[in-house]
Amino acid sequence: MARSALLNVMVQAAMKAGRSLARDFGEVQNLQVSRKGPADFVSNADLSAEKIIYDELKLARPDYGFLMEESGSQPGVDPQHRWIVDPLDGTTNFLHGIPFFAVSIALERDGQIVAGVVYNPALDELYAAERGSGAFLNDRRMRVAGRFEMKNCVIGTGIPFMGHGDCVRHMRELRAMMEKVSGIRRPGAAALDLAFVAAGRFDGFWEHDLKAWDMAAGIILIREAGGLVSDLDDRQLMFDKQNIVAGNGRIHKELLSIINKANT
Ligand code: IPD
Ligand code: CA
Ligand code: CA
Repeated sequence: MARSALLNVMVQAAMKAGRSLARDFGEVQNLQVSRKGPADFVSNADLSAEKIIYDELKLARPDYGFLMEESGSQPGVDPQHRWIVDPLDGTTNFLHGIPFFAVSIALERDGQIVAGVVYNPALDELYAAERGSGAFLNDRRMRVAGRFEMKNCVIGTGIPFMGHGDCVRHMRELRAMMEKVSGIRRPGAAALDLAFVAAGRFDGFWEHDLKAWDMAAGIILIREAGGLVSDLDDRQLMFDKQNIVAGNGRIHKELLSIINKANT
């Protein structure tokens, strides 16, 4: 695939951080970790990955702003552009030695996501998309899955955990979903879960209580792979509402209907 200079910068940053995470993952048992909150950890690996990404992006585009999970928001001289970064999505997996985690980098221009990269170093899988240019998994073009019937679908989700999310609501939604689909998966890294929708591995996905850095890159991957993404009210306010529903046109609609019905 021919990548723009901008997408190349993002890919370089994601892969460099990913290599650092992969090295740390090998020594995960020895990592010193500190608690960020109940069931929510931040590790040295996480912080150094963020620094690598910051340094690379800052060098390439010194004027752009940042929204990073660990360091927060840093306005740029250029008010049009903002990088949205999750240096390690799937922290709990990482800390438990489960090889399902990723680096996620997106670029926002005038409030619209225009490019996104998700890199899973454990499988060496790079997902990349730029507005109008399609979405790719390594060198292969991605398309969302074409299934139309819920009974044939595998749907991804994120499940609340201690101190995070509404367990009762999720039980209602899970119950309604379980009865209609061929399988539900909770791999534990939202950015990768969304990339799986883009790659046609998941037919759909929904989750509450996500942050912009969990979703931003995945959103453009799915759009460029021909899928639909919205919040649970079928609007484009995913960052404000902190929830997301995704799939092909038909499955996206079905998911919205099942979830909203479960909650009324
Ligand atoms: C988490 C993962 C997880 C999702 C959580 C996120 P982190 O991100 O994406 O799948 O369910 O809500 O916070 O903490 O591993 O970067
Ligand atoms: Ca995350
Ligand atoms: Ca993270």
